[in-house]
Amino acid sequence: MNATLQDADIARAVELLRAGQLVAFPTETVYGLGANARDAAAVAKIFAAKGRPADHPLIVHIASARALPLWAAHVPEAARRLAEAFWPGPLTLVLPRADGVPDAVTGGLSTVGLRVPRHPVALALLRAFDGGLAAPSANRYGRVSPTSAAHVRDGLGDRVDLVLDGGRCEVGLESTIVDLSGDVPVLLRPGAVTQAMLERVLGERVHPAGEGATPAPGRKPSHYAPRARVLLASDAEAVSLARCFHMGGARVGLLSATAPMEAGIDWLGLPPDTDAQARELYQRLHDADTLGLDIVVAVVPRDHAGIGEALRDRLRRAAGLGDGTPDASDLSA
Ligand code: TXA
Ligand code: MG
Repeated sequence: MNATLQDADIARAVELLRAGQLVAFPTETVYGLGANARDAAAVAKIFAAKGRPADHPLIVHIASARALPLWAAHVPEAARRLAEAFWPGPLTLVLPRADGVPDAVTGGLSTVGLRVPRHPVALALLRAFDGGLAAPSANRYGRVSPTSAAHVRDGLGDRVDLVLDGGRCEVGLESTIVDLSGDVPVLLRPGAVTQAMLERVLGERVHPAGEGATPAPGRKPSHYAPRARVLLASDAEAVSLARCFHMGGARVGLLSATAPMEAGIDWLGLPPDTDAQARELYQRLHDADTLGLDIVVAVVPRDHAGIGEALRDRLRRAAGLGDGTPDASDLSA
């Protein structure tokens, strides 16, 4: 990308944001749909553009941990340590909110989600804007998160005033969310920063959501779904399941690392290693929509290490499975 053009794009984005408009921008996880977090009317436009219920809280993106006291009423030691270890990066901290953070941002909660993204375009935008940007993933409510500027344009069209194109997202799944507002740290959403990584820095256990804690608002089971119905299967069963639906007349796609030796089944493909699978997942689910598939049979990854846990979480949500329901990876050895 041309450096001068980039500067002009950032300047234009800042101008629009100051005027209360919406700007989509790349982060290392997914593209965000940004508005000035101090401007309740601008934040309201996010909900309208997404078609999202107004009680879902948004993450406030900031340029550095130094801005935390502007948004959080209290910054616990645990938050400082995690920020030091993982920011800028794919981690969101939920903290008690400071006075003056609009209800529109927090969905009326007493807490606020905060994150410093590491994508250079996001950081350049936040530094130039010199404030917080409320930004959910830049997709229509309930649809797959965007990992390219084209996904944003396809999904939101002229509901967004400007899309900054920063290429394909490097992580590809939404940030890890950890709630530090209670007595113990709670993992509300798995992501590239894993529970083990958090525990290593904190020196204490991070509790999974649901363990006595309230689930993250807005984490309904089908949060990341393409139009096609997604079914999870083990590696061994996936092709025969896909074949059954194909023979029944459905347009079927297979989301797996190995190509099926079957005519009539669209192989969506997935790279062999887990990080690359995470990076590619949403692109493949967007492909399923573009192809007009009725059914996607997805092979659940066996590897839960690293981003594997987040990958499994998003696949389960794409399949509309709740937190407790077993899937193929639980059922097969
Ligand atoms: O990677 C990401 O986090 C991306 C990029 C754009 O930064 N953003 C993102 O935003 O995924 P969104 O709105 O699609 O998901 C944010 C989720 C909400 O659905 C909610 O579950 C949680 O963050 N959240 C935000 N504020 C919260 C709060 N105060 N308490 C609990 N959960 C909160
Ligand atoms: Mg989202």
